[in-house]
Parts: sequence; structure tokens; C-alpha cells
Amino acid sequence: MSVRPSVKVPRHTRTPQSNRKRIDMKAAVFSKFGDPAEVLEVREVPTPEPGPGEVRVRMIASPINPSDTMFVEGRYGVRPTPPAVPGFEGVGVVDKAGPGLMGRFVVGKRVVAINNKGGNWAEYAVIPWKQARPVAADIPDDQAATFFVNPMTAVALTRHVLAVPKGEWLLISAAGSTLGKMIVRLGRRDGFKTLCVVRRSEAKQELIDLGADAVVSSSEGPVPEQVRRITGGDGPRYALDPIGGEAGTAVFRSLGKGGRLVVYGSLTDEPIAVDPRSLITSRTSVEGFWLGYWMAERSIPKALMLFREVATLIREGVLSADVGKSYPLERVGEAAREAAAVGRGGKVLLKIGAGG
Ligand SMILES: NC(=O)c1ccc[n+]([C@@H]2O[C@H](COP(=O)([O-])OP(=O)(O)OC[C@H]3O[C@@H](n4cnc5c(N)ncnc54)[C@H](OP(=O)(O)O)[C@@H]3O)[C@@H](O)[C@H]2O)c1
Repeated sequence: MSVRPSVKVPRHTRTPQSNRKRIDMKAAVFSKFGDPAEVLEVREVPTPEPGPGEVRVRMIASPINPSDTMFVEGRYGVRPTPPAVPGFEGVGVVDKAGPGLMGRFVVGKRVVAINNKGGNWAEYAVIPWKQARPVAADIPDDQAATFFVNPMTAVALTRHVLAVPKGEWLLISAAGSTLGKMIVRLGRRDGFKTLCVVRRSEAKQELIDLGADAVVSSSEGPVPEQVRRITGGDGPRYALDPIGGEAGTAVFRSLGKGGRLVVYGSLTDEPIAVDPRSLITSRTSVEGFWLGYWMAERSIPKALMLFREVATLIREGVLSADVGKSYPLERVGEAAREAAAVGRGGKVLLKIGAGG
């Protein structure tokens, strides 16, 4: 995903050639930043036309990820100028290609639609042809809808960025998230040990059942002390945090000598307190990760291999998403409320078009 500065409904809804009758579609639009449950409304807007190098996707389903809700709240790395349509990933069928040769090869195909600028919470979305990735027929719509953001991040963080060796502890906060559960299953498969942090004691058992090697709850005492009791003397050398603030600080303080913390989310929008002495004498480090930047640095053959790797792991059930409730696009506000609920369970999906 590359990062572009702004998204406007008019950009997505380029008016079709003037001699044709304008055809409208339904889209979830927000006209000001705010709580997605409050500010999103389903409106009729002009159906977008693909430009050069672009294709149009008739959307089938799209998940509600934290990146989408933060986009609507105006606190994501991609900040549109409202009115705008959210939705960074999803599944659909390419129904039209713009000028250029390559897009024609995907017309009629079911694809994973990666939309860097947002716009998939609509009946049709226009994206660059390269970001319409054909998906195998044996991967169902619900899994194809959540194919990219979380599964690719799980692979990137554990196998490439941290490259966690077999037998090592990986400390993960927000471990009950869709992505956290994928990392736990990846740990079982790849042989690293997962030490999970959750904020609610009742969320522990599910992770143990999933195969986590240890689970602690921040509600049961200081996390660094709980972590040390599990790992012994020195703490873990690998850690991941998408929360920031107190929770992220606790993860940083749990690190052992030479430990690396990769921050990949900002659920609280609060800073992590980093003790400079730890950086100097314990050689701990903190770095950030954004999938969009990481993917942009992969070559085309490498990206293709990664997509195949993810498809295989989804089929094996390692990177399949736990899917929760589904809502038609018309009930996007309700869907957003469900997605934000504490302890909500599986990923919330918007079912669009005939699928709704
Ligand atoms: N950097 C990247 O490129 C990238 C890519 C993919 C995902 N991400 C990030 O990964 C994170 C997880 O995504 P997801 O789709 O797996 O999320 P998800 O399924 O919606 O789950 C969110 C999880 O975060 C926990 N949580 C929310 N606010 C919290 C807080 N203030 N303190 C502690 N825990 C909190 C929730 O805990 P409860 O179960 O207790 O409600 C829940 O388990 C998000 O921050 C997302 O933005 C980043």
C-alpha cells in the first residue's frame, strides 16, 4: 500500500462520459471525522469509472479493521478530506478495466481488492490493476475479504522483520485481536513461543486453547513482572505492540537484553515511555512497521511469492480470520458499533451488493 494524501468522494466517483446516463451506486460516506457509528451514512453517489491503469471492482465483502475506523476518525496515517468512503481491503469481481492492457487480464475475476486510499465500502471501487489480486476459488469470500491486511502483516512481522527464531519467546500485546490470534497459530507452526498479553482475564482461555505458550492479563498486575516469572531471569528478545501508551510501555519494559519491540499500531494514540538507559545499556530498541511501506519495498516476484505464502497459510487455517457478525452495507453504523465493542469476538464484515 502506498500512501497518498487525500481521498474525496468526487475522486472515486469520476463522472462517466458525459453522453451517458449517470448511474448511481450505494456507498458508506462520512462528511466529517468522528465516531464511525455516528458519522457514516449510506448514500447514492455516482458509480466510479476506471482511469488508465485502473480497474473497477464490484464489491462483495469488506471487513471493518481498526485502520478503517481510525480513517473515519481522522487519526490514521492516510487522512482524507471528507466527504470520503472508507475501506482498505475486501473481495469483489472486476467488472471493468480502464485504458491500458494489463487491467483487461483481471476483468471477470474474483480478486482481493487492496485500496490504499480507502473506498471499498461501496458497491463499486476503483483501484490500480496491480492491487486487484486474483484469488483462488477454494478461498471463501469471508477469508478473501480479510486476505491482505492482517495475514500479510503476521507473515511480515514474524518471518521477515523480526524473523523470530525457533524456540524464542515472542511477546505480543492485544493478543486476542484477529491479528494476535494469527500470530499465535503462526508460532505453533513456525516453532517460536508466544507470550500473550490481554487486558481482560476472560480473554486468556481462548488463547491457551489456540496454542499460546503463555498468557497474562494486564488486569492482574504489572506486565513486566508477570512476563519475567514466565521467561525467567532475562525477558523476551522479540515483542510486538499495536496499543501504545501504558500497554506499549509495559511491553517495552518487559524486554530482555538486546530485545526488539516493533510497534505496528496506535490503538490508544498515546506515547510509549522509553527509558534511554535501557536503550543504551540493555541495547533494547523500538521500531515502527506499516504494511503499506513494507509491501512497497518488495519486488513484484517477491510480492507474488508472499501472496502465495499467505494463501497457503489461510488454507491451512493458520492465517484464517475468525469471522464474527456480517452486516449489509445499509447497516454500516451498526456494524461499526459492533466492531468497536470490547471483547467483540470475530472480525465484523460488510456484505455488499447481492451478498448483502
Ligand atoms: N501497521 C500495520 O501495517 C498494521 C497492519 C494490520 C493491523 N495493524 C494493527 O493491528 C492491530 C490489530 O488489528 P486487528 O484487525 O487484529 O484488530 P481487532 O481484531 O479489531 O482487535 C482489536 C484488539 O485490540 C484490543 N484493544 C483495543 N483497544 C485496546 C486498548 N486500548 N488496550 C488494550 N487492548 C485494546 C481489543 O481487545 P479486547 O478483545 O479486550 O476488546 C482487541 O483484542 C490494530 O491496531 C491494527 O491497526 C497494523
